[in-house]
Amino acid sequence: MPSPIDRRQMLTTAAVAGVASCFGSVSAREESPTLLPSSSLDGGKPAAKADVEWPFWDAHEESGLLDVLNSGTWGRTNGGRRVPEFEAAFASRMKARYCVATSSGTTALLTTIGALGIGPGDEVIMPPYTFVATFNAITNSYALPVFVDSDAETFQIDGKKVESAVTANTKLLLPVHIGGSVCDLDAIHSVAKARKIPLIEDACQAPLAEWRGQPVGTIGLAGCFSFQASKNITCGEGGAVITNDEQFANLCYNFHTPGGGKPGASLGRGSNFRITEFQAALLLAQMLRFEEQAKLRDANAAYLTELLQNIPGVSPAKLASGSTRSAWHLYMFRYDPKQFANMPRATLFKELSKEGVSASSGYSRLNRSAHVEALSTNPHYQRIYGKDFMSRWFEANQCPVNDRLCEEAIWFSQTKLLGTRASMEQIANAIATIQKRVA
Ligand SMILES: Cc1ncc(COP(=O)(O)O)c(C=O)c1O
Repeated sequence: MPSPIDRRQMLTTAAVAGVASCFGSVSAREESPTLLPSSSLDGGKPAAKADVEWPFWDAHEESGLLDVLNSGTWGRTNGGRRVPEFEAAFASRMKARYCVATSSGTTALLTTIGALGIGPGDEVIMPPYTFVATFNAITNSYALPVFVDSDAETFQIDGKKVESAVTANTKLLLPVHIGGSVCDLDAIHSVAKARKIPLIEDACQAPLAEWRGQPVGTIGLAGCFSFQASKNITCGEGGAVITNDEQFANLCYNFHTPGGGKPGASLGRGSNFRITEFQAALLLAQMLRFEEQAKLRDANAAYLTELLQNIPGVSPAKLASGSTRSAWHLYMFRYDPKQFANMPRATLFKELSKEGVSASSGYSRLNRSAHVEALSTNPHYQRIYGKDFMSRWFEANQCPVNDRLCEEAIWFSQTKLLGTRASMEQIANAIATIQKRVA
């Protein structure tokens, strides 16, 4: 086992190698990429893992945590300065006027939904291709989630289908920037404006993603972010709300901490969703590498797309037009088994893992899941909406495009995109060689 210091040095080396490859890629990008046979499929040694360990940390995280420990000020309510410092830094980087840091992405969503006063009888529009937390944040207020199908090309909520899902009861549009890429904000924002419905962006996977050059999160009323362990910057668990609306920022602040404190923002409801000084210290340190790592993911994702688009049956997710930057929390593509002699996706994963390439099948059908079905028999929901209504609601949750996406999708995590150009080639070579072998 490497000591913490050895491991730290190793991670720094990996990061530097990756960054070097990122800058080195500018001229190399001109070359037409070639796919070479991969090692183990040719009878060579098993391939090295194409993964980078996560999270990265160094002396900044260590000293930040120790400083908080030694200060004895561990929370924002007894004079902590790191939480406000992080809020100011995050707001500034996201070009937002206000930020309220929270204990998780879920509590960031709960804060905005609470601040909007969403409650029983209200409908909230959301995509089926998302983490279950988006759904949970809605149902915590006894509001009704309404699923709008996905767009197969971008994997995002289909912006063209949002308008027809709006009813007189729709009180919130809650689209998600899934994988860190951006959903069709032009279409969704125009519905929000025309129908006077607030738009909150679930940007939990998308810090630093941009829509027409503007960081996501403030195209609507507010944006919610997650700093959970797998996210592009992390403190284990954490989150944030950003907004440009002062009144809404005050409502969020007062909802997230008992007793509130901001004037003119009484709600009668609230919770304790505060983040600690320890988490804020970690996030301040993580932000030192935020942009550098994002640039590396940008460069590697572009190179990987260049390589993968030459492989029949592999279709990388497209960026919605208007999206000027993805956060690349996930690298997502569709897989057509017909181009791989009908090899099931699970078998492809086994073959890929022999090549040191781990992959995930991503989300299954949330709208048809047992968790969502259970809402239709929840006694509170049956009392609020009626038994028949709730069973019709579950049956009406049909998203055929998303069903197919769930069968065809393959994901690589953001950490793969922090590797070298050679590791992007390793990934593409592995897929191409498996295909050639079974053809
Ligand atoms: C799209 C989306 N929404 C919400 C969340 C919830 O964030 P957290 O896990 O920090 O509560 C996540 C976390 O994975 C997410 O991916």
